Amino acid sequence: MNRIRKITGLGVAFGAFLFLAGCGSQKTPGPETSVSQQFETEMDENLIAVGFSQVGAESDWRAANTESIQSALTPENGFYLIYEDAQQKQENQFKAIRNFILQEVDYIVLSPIVETGWDTVLQEAKDAGIPVILVDRKAQVDEALYTCWIGADFESEGRHAGEWLEQYLDAQGRADEEIHIVTLQGTLDSSAQLGRTKGFAGVMAGHDNWKMLEMRDADFTQAKGQEVMESLLQKYDDIDVVVCENDNMAFGAVDAIREFGGSCGPDGEITILSFDAVSAAFGAMIAGEINVSFECNPLHGPKLQEIIKALEGGGAVDKIQYMEETYFDTSMDLEELRKTRAY
Ligand code: AHR
Repeated sequence: MNRIRKITGLGVAFGAFLFLAGCGSQKTPGPETSVSQQFETEMDENLIAVGFSQVGAESDWRAANTESIQSALTPENGFYLIYEDAQQKQENQFKAIRNFILQEVDYIVLSPIVETGWDTVLQEAKDAGIPVILVDRKAQVDEALYTCWIGADFESEGRHAGEWLEQYLDAQGRADEEIHIVTLQGTLDSSAQLGRTKGFAGVMAGHDNWKMLEMRDADFTQAKGQEVMESLLQKYDDIDVVVCENDNMAFGAVDAIREFGGSCGPDGEITILSFDAVSAAFGAMIAGEINVSFECNPLHGPKLQEIIKALEGGGAVDKIQYMEETYFDTSMDLEELRKTRAY
């Protein structure tokens, strides 16, 4: 049943409030159409109404994730998608979820910016009888408050990064050398930050000669990555390795290192490890700027569509669903591999 249609019965003023106060919703009426007409023309009671609260637009990965979900949950595929960009603010996600509840959507899809603080709002969704599907990042709440989660094994990505560094240093004859590392962390308390940090730290614990000089929050953005890297370069003159918890921060770090007169990548002084493996990271590896990127698959749309259709059919779905992932480094034929990539 498409319950969102009920909203038209609540009147123009209420509908206008929801859409105009809808913090950046993409479904805003055109000037020539009243809000109620917009509902009437856009609503099709056979469509499944889905409210999607996205973290923001902080990275290339995020753009690919949004695109994947928007192109899967289309009217042609049987969905009416209400998309809300939270601009990296948890309070915007709270507002979006409460609006979705008022709109009586059939499903709420949430990518939680951080892991904590969701109990109250997810309980409200549960009380309203709306299933919540978590995508990408996790929420530390009672399992009964969400139907399932789709995403990456961030801890395993971090562990693979540590293991890659082990082998890389070994191959360079530097296994016993003191190695100075800095980390540009993603948004603190986000699943991607927590998992990648933990996975890498697990490998690091086995190497007394690896010294973590500093770990700093750079919020998954290129601008912050550059700013934080600049300040680390001013503070330390002996950085051997930068672990960037996503590609965009790595691009910022590369810019900072270059502006500082330093060099990085396989032929440079500083080894750069990154995560996501977006198309631009292939470019940076081909250009010899970064060494390796651990894939984080953002293409959640098709799986999400499959899950919702299964639930609509009364089927059960797995509670936890991991995406398949690999890694890419400069020892590979990146020009060829890049051609096979969707993001
Ligand atoms: O949660 C996934 C992470 O969030 C990606 O690594 C990053 O690019 C994004 O912003």
